[in-house]
Amino acid sequence: MKTWKIGLAGCGGIAEAVYLPYITRFPNMEMAAVCDIIPERTKTYSEKYKVPNWYASVEEMLDKCDIDIVMDTATIQAHYDINMAALKAGKHLYSQKPVGLTVEQVTDMINTAQSAGVKFSASPIHMIRPDIRWAQHMIRDGAIGEVTMVRASMAHGGPEYFQFREVDPTWFFRPGAGALYDMGVHALHCVTGLLGPAKAVACMSRVSEPRRTVRSGAFDGKPIDSDQLDDNYIITLDFGRGMGLIDTGFCIKAYRTPSIEVYGTMGTISFTDDRKNPLKVYADIPERGIRGWIDPMLMERFDLDFFQCLCMKDLVDAIEQDRPVGLAPEHARHVVEIMCKIPVASQNHTLETLETTF
Ligand SMILES: NC(=O)c1ccc[n+]([C@@H]2O[C@H](COP(=O)([O-])OP(=O)(O)OC[C@H]3O[C@@H](n4cnc5c(N)ncnc54)[C@H](O)[C@@H]3O)[C@@H](O)[C@H]2O)c1
Repeated sequence: MKTWKIGLAGCGGIAEAVYLPYITRFPNMEMAAVCDIIPERTKTYSEKYKVPNWYASVEEMLDKCDIDIVMDTATIQAHYDINMAALKAGKHLYSQKPVGLTVEQVTDMINTAQSAGVKFSASPIHMIRPDIRWAQHMIRDGAIGEVTMVRASMAHGGPEYFQFREVDPTWFFRPGAGALYDMGVHALHCVTGLLGPAKAVACMSRVSEPRRTVRSGAFDGKPIDSDQLDDNYIITLDFGRGMGLIDTGFCIKAYRTPSIEVYGTMGTISFTDDRKNPLKVYADIPERGIRGWIDPMLMERFDLDFFQCLCMKDLVDAIEQDRPVGLAPEHARHVVEIMCKIPVASQNHTLETLETTF
């Protein structure tokens, strides 16, 4: 059995929360190197997680270390350069979201991966979630009839409010990042994953909290000017006959609305927060005498601690079996196109046509 050597770029919150402590649970994966532009962070992570090599840049890591896969967990603004460096060096790639900032950037990465003959897996991980996959199958099988609308609510109070952070969260409020690219990307992946490519997008958005203060961690109390990018969005999507409605941003401290609901002519699929019972289905099938909520039993287990690492299992399985990755970069590109057209739609009060598909 081959052991796949992984080099991680970006020693921040997500790297520590969901990858570094867990990745070596896979017997065929090894953390070979970490890198970050802040050398102290690289050294600390390499010692804490017993990673043998650490570097001050992705270029140095690619140059000096024998790795098979690059895992990009750096800031959003850095993804394109890191991803292109990895792909051009002939490494397989898993990139945190969004993998790039424009359709052209994502196309560049897809083409480079193809020419290099490597696999490119694009976060977020929703399309390998058992509950999303199951809902997708139910929708395709017509279990709730024809889908008329999907609604998604995916927001939080902002990284400075919501997360305990060792790294300064100011970059989340600077061009190239923002609430849409950090949070909206999740909702857009889910709804397009469930319903397929959208045809057009409209949006209302604004800056609702122009000044913020870090609420915990190493930068507790630091003020942040957060008026450069919108932080509060209501997005509508045209799927042809079905419609999508998404609220997202950094302006909701807490909510109890289901994260996703899909409405069809014969019922509803509602996502819950209960990992043992993640879906509730309302079925209206008069010929079978069914009209009400049912609790379907999910046949795959959610291991929450470990779950985010499944993107790496999917990537390695895709390499070994020479099959497409579960987190398709073409899907990510469609979401990037939607995110690029949202500010235009919002500023001009227009419905923007979408061209990409997946
Ligand atoms: N999937 C999720 O649920 C989830 C949750 C949080 C964050 N994220 C994503 O993960 C990524 C990182 O977020 P985070 O919260 O860990 O951020 P963070 O600020 O905690 O860490 C980012 C790290 O990247 C480093 N970095 C910046 N430029 C670099 C470069 N050129 N080369 C190497 N390292 C570089 C920074 O120094 C920092 O240490 C973002 O893309 C974010 O959207 C995903």
